[in-house]
Amino acid sequence: MCGIVGYVGRAQERSAAGGNGAHDALDVVIEGLRRLEYRGYDSAGVAVVADGAVETRKKAGKLGNLVAELEQRPLPESLTGIGHTRWATHGGPTDANAHPHLADNGRLAVIHNGIIENYAELKQELRAKGVTFASETDTEVAAALIGDMYRGAAGGDITKAMQLAAQRLDGAFTLLAVHADQPGVVVAARRNSPLVVGLGDGENFLGSDVSGFIDHTRRAVELGQDQIVTITPDSFVITDFYGRPAQGKEFEVSWDAASAEKGGFPSFMEKEIHDQPAAVHDTLLGRSDAQGRLILDELRIDPAELKQVNKIIVLACGTAAYAGLVAKYAIENWCRIPTEVELAHEFRYRDPIVDKNTLVVSISQSGETMDTLMAVRYAREQGAKTVSICNTNGSTIPRESDAVLYTHAGPEIAVASTKAFLAQITAAYLLGLYLAQLRGNIFSGQIKDVLADLGKIPEKIQQVLDNAEPLRELARSMKDEKSVLFLGRNVGYPVALEGALKLKEIAYLHAEGFAAGELKHGPIALIDEGQPVFVVVPSPRGRDSLHSKVVSNIQEVRARGARTLVIAEEGDEAVREYAEYVFYVPETPPLLMPLLTTVPLQIFAAELAQAKGFDVDQPRNLAKSVTVE
Ligand code: AGP
Repeated sequence: MCGIVGYVGRAQERSAAGGNGAHDALDVVIEGLRRLEYRGYDSAGVAVVADGAVETRKKAGKLGNLVAELEQRPLPESLTGIGHTRWATHGGPTDANAHPHLADNGRLAVIHNGIIENYAELKQELRAKGVTFASETDTEVAAALIGDMYRGAAGGDITKAMQLAAQRLDGAFTLLAVHADQPGVVVAARRNSPLVVGLGDGENFLGSDVSGFIDHTRRAVELGQDQIVTITPDSFVITDFYGRPAQGKEFEVSWDAASAEKGGFPSFMEKEIHDQPAAVHDTLLGRSDAQGRLILDELRIDPAELKQVNKIIVLACGTAAYAGLVAKYAIENWCRIPTEVELAHEFRYRDPIVDKNTLVVSISQSGETMDTLMAVRYAREQGAKTVSICNTNGSTIPRESDAVLYTHAGPEIAVASTKAFLAQITAAYLLGLYLAQLRGNIFSGQIKDVLADLGKIPEKIQQVLDNAEPLRELARSMKDEKSVLFLGRNVGYPVALEGALKLKEIAYLHAEGFAAGELKHGPIALIDEGQPVFVVVPSPRGRDSLHSKVVSNIQEVRARGARTLVIAEEGDEAVREYAEYVFYVPETPPLLMPLLTTVPLQIFAAELAQAKGFDVDQPRNLAKSVTVE
C-alpha cells in the first residue's frame, strides 16, 4: 500500500561528461517517490545519513508537502537515504505518523509497508524496557524493536538487528532501515509485501516496485519471502531471517522511464486508456506460432496435470474480477471446463471445494492485492494448481503461484485500472485457448481464427479512441448527473459492471451495473424521468444473438423515461430508434467484444471526472494496490 525507496551511492568523481557519477541520495529518493506516489499518498518522508547522524523530514499530505518542507529545511548532502509515501493503516495521516520512524536515540530510521499484526504486545514489551513512542503506528514499534536488537543481541550490526527483529514480527512487512553508525548501508526485510533491488554502477537501489528506481537502472533482483537484503554501493547480500545465505532472482526491467510518464495526456488514466492497443498487442506478442499454436512457455505446469483439470476458479478483486467474469464465458465456451469467478475475499472464508484437479487462476494488476494473495495461498494449501495473470514482474502473487502469465500492459499508474483490464482479458483468452489446445476441445484451425481475430483488436481499439470526441462531449454535458445505470447481457454484463465501477471510483457518482435480464426483477423501479442508462448491445449477427432481448430491455427503460445511451456494433441500425445516443464500435466476434465495448465507458468516466475537476489518477479514499486485507 505504500511507496518505498532506498539508495546507497559511492563518493566518486562525477565524470566531466556528467556521466553516471554517484547521485545525491535525496534526489534519487524524491524522484523515486514521485513515481511510487500512486501506491499511497496521504503522507511522505525521507531520511539520510550524513555527518555521523540521521536526518529526517516528513509531512502529512501529498509528496508536494514534503518537497516544500525540504525547501524550507534542507537536508545535508548524503549518499545514503530512504523514503516513503504512505496509505494509512495504523494511525491517521499525520506528520507524527508519517514515516520514517526513529529509534536508538534518533540514530536509526525505519520505513515500512504492510501491517505488523503483533505490534501491540511488542509495544508493551518495549515500553517495559523504558522505550517511549511518538506515534500510533506499528512501524514505530518495529523501529524500536530493531533499535533494541541493535544495541543488544546484534552488537551494533544493523543487518543482524534487522534479522533478529524480523524473527519477532508477525504480519506483512517490507522494512528499510539506515543507522547513523553505518553510512553507505541500507538494510531491508520483506514478508508478504513487495520489495525489489535495483543494481547500479557504484550505487544500488531498493523499491516497493521497479518504478522507484526506473530512471537509474533496469537491472533488478526480486526478493523471496522472509528475506533480508543489505545493500552498499558495490554489493547486495541476501539472507533469510536467520542469517543463512539466500538467493534473489535477477531480471531485466522492460519498462523505461518514459513509459511511466503521462506522455502528454492530461492524466495517467487517459494515457493508459490510449496505451490499450499496445497493451493488447504486447500481451499477445510471442505467444503463438505461424500455425496458430499457443506457446505459453512461462506456464510451468505439467500439461498432463492441466489435462486433468475438471474445475477452474478465477480469484480476483474489483476490475480484475470483472476481467475474470469475461474470461469465464470464453474459457467455458472453448474448454468446456466449469469455471467459477470468485471475489478473493469471499472465497477464502466460505470453505470452498478445491482439490488437485482444480486450477485456480488469480488475476491481479499489482500482484500484491492481499485479499487475492491470501486466497491463492489458501487454494494452494488445498492442493490446487495456481496460475497468476499479473502485470507486475517480481510481485508477490506470481512468485507464490505455480505458474504465471504476465500481461504486458506496462506500468499502470492511475488508480483506476484500464489497460490492465483489457490485458487481463487478453491473457485469460490465451489461457483458455491454450487449455483448449492441450485438451483437444477445439481444432487448431479454430484457435488460429480466434488468434487472428484477437490480432485485429489493437487497431479496432484505436478506431474507438480516434472517434471518441462526441462521447467526450456527452460526458461533459452530464457532469452534474447524480446517477447512471449500466446494462449488459452475457459478456456485456461484466462490461456494464466495469463501466459502473469506473464512474464510481473516479467521478464519485452513484453508478450501478446490471444484467439486462435482471431489470424486471427489481432494478427497473429505479428508472425515473431522465435517468441516464448505458446499454451494451451485443452484435445482431449470429443465430444465438441476444440482440433482440437487449433491444427489448432498452424499450422497457425508455418507456419509463430513461435516457438511453447505447454502445453498439457498427452497422446495427436497429438500435437507433430506441437510443438517445449511440456509440458504435467496430464489428468483432461476440466473445471478444468486451475488448472494444469497455473502452467508450472508460473514456466517458475519465472525461466526466475531468469535467468535474477531480484528480482522475488519485481518486479519494483509494490506493493503487490494496496490500491489506
Ligand atoms: C479498479 O479500477 C480498481 N483500482 C480496483 O478495483 C482494482 O482492480 C482491484 O483493487 C484489484 O487490484 P489488482 O488488480 O492490483 O489485484
